[in-house]
Amino acid sequence: MTNLNVDSPLTLTNGQNIKNRLFKAAMSEALASKDHNPNEYHQVLYRKWAEGGSGIVVTGNVMVDRNALGEPGNVVLDSKSNRNNFISWSNAGTVNNTNLWMQLNHPGRQSPKSVSAQPVAPSAVPFDSNLKQFFNPPRELTKREIDRLIEKFGEAAQLAKETGFSGVQIHGAHGYLVSQFLSPITNRRTDEFGGDLTGRMLFLKKIYLEMRRKAGETFPIGLKLNISDFTEGGFNEKESLTVMKKMSDLGIDLIEISGGNYDNPKMFKASSDEEVFFIDYVKEIRHRLDTLIVITGGFRKLSTMEKALNSHYTDMIGLARPLALKPELSNALVSRQTKTIELPRLTTGLPAIDDKIGGLIGISYYEQQMARIAEGKEPEIYRNAWKPIVKTLRVHGLRALTPRRSK
Ligand SMILES: Cc1cc2nc3c(=O)[nH]c(=O)nc-3n(C[C@H](O)[C@H](O)[C@H](O)COP(=O)(O)O)c2cc1C
Repeated sequence: MTNLNVDSPLTLTNGQNIKNRLFKAAMSEALASKDHNPNEYHQVLYRKWAEGGSGIVVTGNVMVDRNALGEPGNVVLDSKSNRNNFISWSNAGTVNNTNLWMQLNHPGRQSPKSVSAQPVAPSAVPFDSNLKQFFNPPRELTKREIDRLIEKFGEAAQLAKETGFSGVQIHGAHGYLVSQFLSPITNRRTDEFGGDLTGRMLFLKKIYLEMRRKAGETFPIGLKLNISDFTEGGFNEKESLTVMKKMSDLGIDLIEISGGNYDNPKMFKASSDEEVFFIDYVKEIRHRLDTLIVITGGFRKLSTMEKALNSHYTDMIGLARPLALKPELSNALVSRQTKTIELPRLTTGLPAIDDKIGGLIGISYYEQQMARIAEGKEPEIYRNAWKPIVKTLRVHGLRALTPRRSK
């Protein structure tokens, strides 16, 4: 078998060629205009990432329903969107032979108080952790509303294709709506969308089939899925494998593996001594799947990336935070000028505060780096966590202390 490196090309099931194995994972930019259209910031940021050399670049999550936002500043794609703004975005993000995929999402109950008086969800199950202070309790979606949401995912996929995006990705991870349907904790429905795993995955299956119908047989459609929610009684590895196999039988083009949710943000933490998150799980199941796989989380060394490629645990290397610090990182990895990248360990100097709002600081920090790149500035590397806290408070006020997203 040939030796793979990050520069090895990859062929998608539709025959399309991806120039290398580097996959920029979704990071919500929170930079949309008030009407939720993308703007010049998106163009500058995505041109920079496209020039930066990744084979596939996935956008931050774009919402399919303007009444259901994950946070202020989300882009929404529906019939009211400004098509030209989306075309300008895709033009900028596909230079340099880059594939630009749009991540499509609905937050379900993970829509904070600041943007949602009453979120909708598979069942009326509120958060039971201290997160409940930030989210209004959700109400259960009616069957009619579910059918409408399925159509909305399809319409968004079609619009993404028409406005020049190279593919789309369903956000089925991190506790958002698709993930809420999959989990027996948040999905207590007694109709066909609930119950056993076949029922709980029906929403995902239907949105995929509708997207396929609207966007056509050869348009790449990917899925980001939790390997597990890492929550007692929740969606687990066994169920995740069944979902992956089913989606692969239905024709999904690529599955990105992540894990965790708001209560359990594993997507930001290694689950073992391994540098790469979730790889221990993927090792066990990879041979049972014949779809393209991307593992995202924790890749920091070229040697680890190439080891993971050559062991065939993953077909591409998912990178998020490193690319907000160094948008040209993929070029530097391909040319082997950069062999390792470290993320700054942000700290307030007060362990109690770090523990309580550590995740929030990280998110604000990386959001601010994306905003800097979008303004044509260089990212700023520092460790003082007070800086992003103060900046975020200045922009968003106290509302910023809401965990706006779990990613
Ligand atoms: C600021 C920020 C925003 C993110 N937004 C999203 C998102 O919109 N959709 C998503 O699937 N993941 C999102 N993520 C999670 C990343 O895609 C990725 O799974 C996680 O950061 C782990 O990868 P890394 O170790 O390479 O950063 C976000 C992460 C950060 C830091």
